[in-house]
Amino acid sequence: MKHAIEFNQVEKSFGSLHVLKGISGYVAAGEVLSIIGSSGCGKSTLLRCLNRLEVIDRGQIMIDNLEISRANLSSRELKQVRARIGMVFQQFNLFPHLSVLDNLTLAPQQVLKLSRQESTERARYYLQEVGLADKAQMYPEQLSGGQRQRVAIARSLCMEPQAMLFDEPTSALDPELVGEVLSVMHRLAERGMTMVVVTHEIQFAREVASRVMFLDKGIVAEEGNAREVLTNPQSERLHTFLSRMRQAQMA
Ligand SMILES: Nc1ncnc2c1ncn2[C@@H]1O[C@H](COP(=O)(O)OP(=O)(O)O)[C@@H](O)[C@H]1O
Ligand SMILES: [Mg+2]
Repeated sequence: MKHAIEFNQVEKSFGSLHVLKGISGYVAAGEVLSIIGSSGCGKSTLLRCLNRLEVIDRGQIMIDNLEISRANLSSRELKQVRARIGMVFQQFNLFPHLSVLDNLTLAPQQVLKLSRQESTERARYYLQEVGLADKAQMYPEQLSGGQRQRVAIARSLCMEPQAMLFDEPTSALDPELVGEVLSVMHRLAERGMTMVVVTHEIQFAREVASRVMFLDKGIVAEEGNAREVLTNPQSERLHTFLSRMRQAQMA
C-alpha cells in the first residue's frame, strides 16, 4: 500500500445513468488532490464513494490498508472508515438545534467514546484552530456562512481524521466570506493534512493542491501537477472549462 487513498476503475451508476465510468487515482499522505469538472460530472459522487456514503458498482477503493469497497464490510469497519475520513459539505450540515460546542463534541463522544471533558477540550482546541474560540456557545443560525463552514471543518477535525474530503466548501458562501474558509484549508494543507478538495476555486487549486484531476463525462479527462495542468491544459475540454470558470469569476 503506497498511498493514503487509492481508487481503481471505480464505476457507479444511478439506475441507467452511468456516472463514474472507471475512475482511477490516488492521494498520497499529506497531499492535496483537487477535483474539478462541470456540474453533474460526478465529483460529489466520487467523494461520497470515498467514504462509502455510496457503494460502488465496480472497482476498488483502498483507505490505508482497508478495502472499503468490499461488499462485506462489517459495521465496525464502516464506522472506522467514517471516523478516519472527514467530510465537509457545501451546505455545512451542522445540527441547528445544537450549540457549536455540542456540534463538535457529539461524534467524538458517540463514535470515539471520548468523555465529555476530553471531547470539550478537543473541541475548544479545534475551534481555536479555525479562529472561532469565542463562538462555542452560539447556535449555527447566529453565525455567518463562513463561520458555519469553519465550524464544520473544526467538527471534522475533532475526529482527528487521517484524510478530509471537501465538497465545494465555499460554493454556498457570499464572495466576501470565501477567503476565510480557504485560508483555514490552506493552513490545514500546510500542516500536512491529506485532503481531497472538489472546488471551483481554480486559484486555490493552483496554489494549494499538489495534483488536480479533471473529470469529464465520467472519466478522468486530464490530471497531473496542479500548477502545470491549470496553467497549461492539454485537452480542449479542460481549456474550455477553465476559460468558462475565469469568465464566471470576472462576471
Ligand atoms: N442519489 C442519486 N440518485 C440519482 N442520481 C444521482 C444521485 N446522485 C447523483 N446523481 C446524478 O449523478 C450525476 C452526477 O452528480 P454529482 O456527483 O452530484 O455531480 P457533481 O458533484 O459533479 O455536480 C448527476 O446527473 C446527478 O443528477
Ligand atoms: Mg457536487
